[in-house]
Amino acid sequence: MPLLFGGDYNPEQWPPDVWAQDVRLMREAGVNLVTVGVFSWAALEPEPGRYDFGWLDTVLDLLHDNGIGVALSTPTASPPPWLGHRHPDTLPQGPDGIRRHYGSRNQYCPSSPVFRAAALAIAGALAARYAHHPALRLWHIGNEYGPSCHCGQCAERFRGWLKERYGDLDSLNAAWGTAVWSQRYSAWAEVLPPLRVPYVVNPLQDLDYQRFGSDILLECYTAERDAVRGHNPAVPVTTNFMDFYRHTDGWAWAVETDVVSLDTYPDPNDPGAGMRGAMSKDIMRSLGGGRPWLLMEQSPGAASWRPVATPKRPGLNRLWSLQAVARGADGVLHFQWRASRQGAERAHGAMVPHAGPDSRVFREICSLGAELARLSEVDGLLGERVPADVAIVLDWDAWRAAELPHQPHDGFRYVDRLTEYYEPLWRANITCDFARAGGRFRDYRLVLVPNLYQVTPAAAANLAAYVEVGGTVVLGPFSGVADPDERIFTGGWPGPWQDVFGVRVEEHWPLPEGVVLDVDSAELGDFTASTWAEWAQARGADVVAQVRGGPLDGRPVVLRNRYGAGTAWYIATLPAAEALARLLARVCADTGVEPVVPGLPPGVEAVRRGDWVFLLDHNDDTAEIRHAVPD
Ligand code: GLA
Ligand code: ZN
Repeated sequence: MPLLFGGDYNPEQWPPDVWAQDVRLMREAGVNLVTVGVFSWAALEPEPGRYDFGWLDTVLDLLHDNGIGVALSTPTASPPPWLGHRHPDTLPQGPDGIRRHYGSRNQYCPSSPVFRAAALAIAGALAARYAHHPALRLWHIGNEYGPSCHCGQCAERFRGWLKERYGDLDSLNAAWGTAVWSQRYSAWAEVLPPLRVPYVVNPLQDLDYQRFGSDILLECYTAERDAVRGHNPAVPVTTNFMDFYRHTDGWAWAVETDVVSLDTYPDPNDPGAGMRGAMSKDIMRSLGGGRPWLLMEQSPGAASWRPVATPKRPGLNRLWSLQAVARGADGVLHFQWRASRQGAERAHGAMVPHAGPDSRVFREICSLGAELARLSEVDGLLGERVPADVAIVLDWDAWRAAELPHQPHDGFRYVDRLTEYYEPLWRANITCDFARAGGRFRDYRLVLVPNLYQVTPAAAANLAAYVEVGGTVVLGPFSGVADPDERIFTGGWPGPWQDVFGVRVEEHWPLPEGVVLDVDSAELGDFTASTWAEWAQARGADVVAQVRGGPLDGRPVVLRNRYGAGTAWYIATLPAAEALARLLARVCADTGVEPVVPGLPPGVEAVRRGDWVFLLDHNDDTAEIRHAVPD
C-alpha cells in the first residue's frame, strides 16, 4: 500500500457538480484517501430513523471510480438538532449544571442511553451499507473524543465506576479521605461528579472523575467500533487523538485501535513548533508500540481557532509532513480537502483554499502528493520502525494528579516538564520513544522520567528493577509524592524510590516567578534554576550540584546514585535549558546513546526510519551539511 495522502472531505457542504471537480483535483494532487462523514449525521439521518444514503452512495462510488480510498467516519461527534431537541438529556452539562446546547458540535452526553442508542443505530446502518464497499479502507470512529459531561446520568455511571474500583462506600470514604472537611458519604446516592462547589473540590473525586471521563468515552468508542467491525472485521478501525490531551488516556485508548492516528496543529508562529510536532509524533508512534501510525489531520494553512491564524509559510507543510513519515507515519492527511465557505471553520486552511486550485497552497499540496508517491516506491521505509535508545515516561494519571488544584505550584505543568527533557534531545538528534511507567524499560539504554508525581506500586518496582540490573534513569522533581489514591507518601520523597536514588526530600520548595536559584557544580559547570526546588538530603547518592545562597544554601539539586548495577540521577529542580542539555548530554555519553547524525547545524533534524535517514531543515536559510550519513 502506498503512503496515504489526503484529508477530511465534507461533500455535504457542496453541490454535486463540485464533487466531480473535487475528484479531478484529488487525482491531480495524488490524493488516495479521504475521510468522509465525520460531521454528516444530519445529512445521513435528516429525521429520526429516516436515512438518506443516496448522496453518500454517489460520493463513495465516485471516489472509488477514481481510485481514491475512503476512511469512513461514524458521524457521532455531532448529533443533529432533532436529537437534542427531542431528548434534552442527550445534551451534556457542565460542572455548573448548565446544559450545553446544539448549534455547535460535540453536544452529547456519553452516558445518555438515548444518545448511545442513536449513535449505535447510525453507526450500524452505515456499516451495514458500506462495510464491503470497495472504497472503504478504514473506519474512523467519532472525532477527537474529549468533552466531558456532569449530568445526572453521568453521576449514576460514575457511581457504578466507583463501586467497581472501591467496592463499598467505606472504601470510597477511606480512599477519598472524606474525614477531611466532613465529606463522609452515608449513601451512594449522595456521591456526585465534581460539580461547582463553594471552594476547592476533593482531589481524588476530581481525579477519579477525570479517569471516569476517559473510560466512559472509551466505552462509546468501543461500542461503535464493535458495531462497525461486526460487519467486516477485515477493515481496520481508528479514532483521531489530539496531541498533549490530558482527558483521554492515550495508553488505554491506543490498544483499542488498529492504527493510532494524530490530529496536530503546531502554531506556525511558535519557534518551538518543529520540536513540539516531533514530540507529539513520537508519542503517537509510542502509543502504537512502534507500529506505523497515521497523521490524520493537520492544516495545509491556518488553523482558524487560533487567536492569530497565520498560515504555514511555503514549504512548512511539506517539512512537517515528512517529519511525520520520518517518525513512523504511513500516511499524511489534512483538515480539510476543500475550504468551507460557511460555518465556524470558514477561515480554516484547506488543501483547496478559497482561492481555488490556482494557488500556492494547492500547488504545494500537489508537489507533496507527488513526493509521497515517490517515497512509497522506495524499499525499507514504509511499515518500518524508528529505532530509539531513550524512553521518556508518559503517564496520564500522574499528569492529571500533578495538575490538580492546590498543588504546591499551580504553574507546574506536566507537558512543560516532558518538553524540557525532550527538547535538548531533539536538538541533539537523539530519537526518543515514550513509555508507560510500567513499560518495558530494558529495551532502552536510558529512561527519562521528567516528572512522576503519582507512583503505583507496579511502576515503583518496574523502575527499581530496571536500575538494579544496570539501567540508567533520570528522575525530575516533584516525583514519587503520592499513590494512585492521591495519598501523600510519608517519610520523605521520592517515596518508594528513596533507596534507588539515594536521596530523601523533606520539603517541596516552589519558587515564585523572578526568583533564580544559583547552583554550583564542579562536574556540570555552575548554572541557574527556577520555578521549583526541594529541601533534599543525599542518602548515599553523590552530590553533583548544590544550591548556593538563600534558604536552600548547600542543598543538593543534582544527585547520582549507584543502585545495583545501574545509575539513578535525581534532579530536584528545573535547571536552565542549557544546563539540562549539558546534563542530558553527559548522561547520554555515559550510556552510549548517540545522535542519529552527529554535528548537524542547529535546527536540522535527523531521524532514522528503516533503511533511511531523514534530514529535516527547520531553518529559514539553507543549511550546508558536510557530514557523511552513517550506514
Ligand atoms: C480538529 C477537528 C476537525 C477540525 C480541526 C480544525 O482537528 O477534528 O474537525 O475542527 O480541528 O483545526
Ligand atoms: Zn452526562
